[in-house]
Amino acid sequence: MAVKSRRSLLFASGALLAVAAVAVPVVAGTAAADSGAAGAGNQARIVGGNQASIADHPYAVYLTDAGGNQFCGAVIVSSTAVATAAHCAKAVAKQDIRVVAGREDKRTSDGQVLGVSKIWVSQSYTDPTQGADIAVLTVRGQLGYRPANLPAKDDTQVYATGTQATVLGWGRIADGGARSDYLRSAQVPLVSDSECRSDYTVYDQQSMVCAGYRDGGIDACQGDSGGPLVVGDTLIGIVSFGDGCAKAGKPGVYTRVSTYADDVETQSRPRLLG
Ligand code: ARG
Repeated sequence: MAVKSRRSLLFASGALLAVAAVAVPVVAGTAAADSGAAGAGNQARIVGGNQASIADHPYAVYLTDAGGNQFCGAVIVSSTAVATAAHCAKAVAKQDIRVVAGREDKRTSDGQVLGVSKIWVSQSYTDPTQGADIAVLTVRGQLGYRPANLPAKDDTQVYATGTQATVLGWGRIADGGARSDYLRSAQVPLVSDSECRSDYTVYDQQSMVCAGYRDGGIDACQGDSGGPLVVGDTLIGIVSFGDGCAKAGKPGVYTRVSTYADDVETQSRPRLLG
């Protein structure tokens, strides 16, 4: 196992240099919800685009394919598991997924690169717009970084309208643009269920939560899927979909983690043997 992860680490760092200039939207092409084509002149940027420190958010990780191309975000939830979006878990074959932890800048070889031994996808998942866009990946080996906290099952208090949450990711910094080399973060207020229902006819308040500004301008974008929306260090959402990025009246839609808290807890529990 140690040999394998060292080899993929070397491979990934070499491959990343080669592909750094090429945007490879593996997931964008598979997520139906992203088809809402970006209008010309749309200033979509991953939420105000602040570079973030991984020391402040050690649970923020990303997923690559076997070629080292980053295709989604994810979040550490135990010493052996990360949560991500179901559509991310299904975008690449299990044996080709790598979890990259402790690496703020994709161009470095910092941190760890771990393979995936098991994937759990919510039984209710079919498509991001139908909700339940959540999965747990069990990694080969141990994650050496602090996990995010999970909300209590069905907790509603953490979803109070207007609460400022933080979204993290290495995704596109402009709608249709290149992905970020660095971890970035943005602050976005939680949107009420009634408002989000008027913004998206597919909105389901049991399985989703929206965050963003009425006027747009700050949002997650392609490549951020699967990554965390946190309040403090509590994981309340997972980047799921949106109509373009940062458009007015189209907030980001996130998986409502509290609904799946028990499943995520069970699925992320380290197994003692076997
Ligand atoms: N589905 C996208 C992905 O696969 C994430 C889209 C998030 N979009 C948004 N406007 N918040 O990376």
